[in-house]
Amino acid sequence: MLKTAFRLLKIKEKIVLPIVQGGMGIGVSAHRLAGSVARLGAVGTISSVDLRRHHPDLMAQTERSRDKALINAVNLTALDREIRAAKTLANGHGMIAVNVMRAVADYAAYVRQSCESGADAVVVGAGLPLDLPELTANYPDVALIPILSDARGISLVLKKWMRKNRLPDAIVIESPRYAAGHLGAARLEDVSDPRFAFKAVLESTFELLKELGLEREKIPLIVAGGITSHEQMGELMALGASAIQLGTPFAVTQEGDAHPNFKTVLAEARPEDIVTFMSVAGLPARAVRTPWLARYLEKEAKLQKKAGVKQCTVGFDCLQQCGLRDGIGKAGQFCIDTQLAFALNGDVKRGLFFRGSESLPFGNAIRPVRELLEYFLTGLRPIIA
Ligand SMILES: Cc1cc2nc3c(=O)[nH]c(=O)nc-3n(C[C@H](O)[C@H](O)[C@H](O)COP(=O)(O)O)c2cc1C
Ligand code: SF4
Repeated sequence: MLKTAFRLLKIKEKIVLPIVQGGMGIGVSAHRLAGSVARLGAVGTISSVDLRRHHPDLMAQTERSRDKALINAVNLTALDREIRAAKTLANGHGMIAVNVMRAVADYAAYVRQSCESGADAVVVGAGLPLDLPELTANYPDVALIPILSDARGISLVLKKWMRKNRLPDAIVIESPRYAAGHLGAARLEDVSDPRFAFKAVLESTFELLKELGLEREKIPLIVAGGITSHEQMGELMALGASAIQLGTPFAVTQEGDAHPNFKTVLAEARPEDIVTFMSVAGLPARAVRTPWLARYLEKEAKLQKKAGVKQCTVGFDCLQQCGLRDGIGKAGQFCIDTQLAFALNGDVKRGLFFRGSESLPFGNAIRPVRELLEYFLTGLRPIIA
C-alpha cells in the first residue's frame, strides 16, 4: 500500500487508502482502471452500465439487436468478467466497488450480479437507493454505499435503512456544483445552491448522526466533486471527511479504460468549454461542449417542445425513465447510451464527454494512477516535462 500521513479509511473490516476512484460510465472505469487503483491500496470502482462495449464477442451478438433481454443478459456477463478481472489485477489489495445508477432500468439485476461476482462494495447514485438493503440481503459482506448530495437525502436514506436494521457502510457526498456526469440536484438552477457545500453537508450530517444516536465514526463520509489538490484533500479531511472521491482526474490516467481521444478531450477542455444541461435521465449533467453537444444544445428547446412518446431508439431501454423515449419535455432529448458509447470509442465529434468543472491536478498531462494517488496522499508532484 502507498504511504500517507492521512488517516486510513475503514469500510466494513477493510482498511484502505482514503481515496476512492468514482464509477464512470459508459466503460470509462472498467476493470483496468478499478483494478489498478485497488492494487495500490485504494478503492477502485467499476461502472456497471453497458459494459458489453468492452467485449467484442458480446458486441457481435447484440450490436444490431433490439432484443432488450439479450442486451441485458450480455451486459451481466460483461459485468461479471470485469469484476473478476479487476479483482485479479488488484491481487487482494484495496477494494473493488461497483457503481450502479438507480435510474437504470436493470438496476436490481446489476446490483445482484455485482454481489454474486464478488464485488467488495455496491455504490448507488442517480436516485435514492431505498431498497438496496433488501436487494443485497443475501450478501451481508458486501458494503453498501449510497451517493447523495445534501443532508435531506442522507436523512431520508438513513432513516429508511435504519427501519430495516441496516446502515450504509459509507456515504459519498457528491457536490453538484463541481462533479461530472449526472448531478444530485433536481433542477439546473439548483446545482450551485449553498446547501450542497461540503462544509454544510458534513456538519449537518454529523448533527443528524448524533440525533439518531449513531457515533460519528460509524459511517465514513466520502466527499466528491472538484477536488484537485493535496491541500484541498487535507482541508476536507480536517472538516471530518474520511476520504475523497475523484472522477475526472482518474478518467484521464493512463490506465483509464476509455479511448485516448476521450482523455484528451477531458484534459484539454477549458473552463468555458464545460457546460451543465438536462440529461435524458431527468437530472442535470455536466460535460464538455463538443461539436455534437453544441449542436444539440442549440436545438434543445425545439426538441423539448415537440417531445412525444416513442420507441427506444436502440431497443435497449436502458433507463427507467427516458426523456426521449417517454416524451418528457423538461428532460434531455437524445439517446445517452449512443452518445456515451461514441465518447468511449474516442469519437470526438459525436460523443458525450462527461467532465467535472474544475482544472486537473496535472493540467493536460495523461499520467499513471500511481502518480495521481501519490500526489493526493503526499503532496509530491511528479516531474512533468
Ligand atoms: C466520464 C465520467 C463518467 C461518470 N459516470 C458516472 C456514473 O456512471 N455513475 C456515477 O455515480 N458517477 C459518475 N461520474 C461521477 C464520478 O464518479 C465522480 O463522483 C465525479 O466525477 C467527481 O467529480 P470530479 O470529476 O470533479 O472529481 C462520472 C464522472 C466522469 C468524469
Ligand atoms: S432511447 Fe433512452 S432508454 Fe433507449 S437506449 Fe437511448 S437513452 Fe436508453
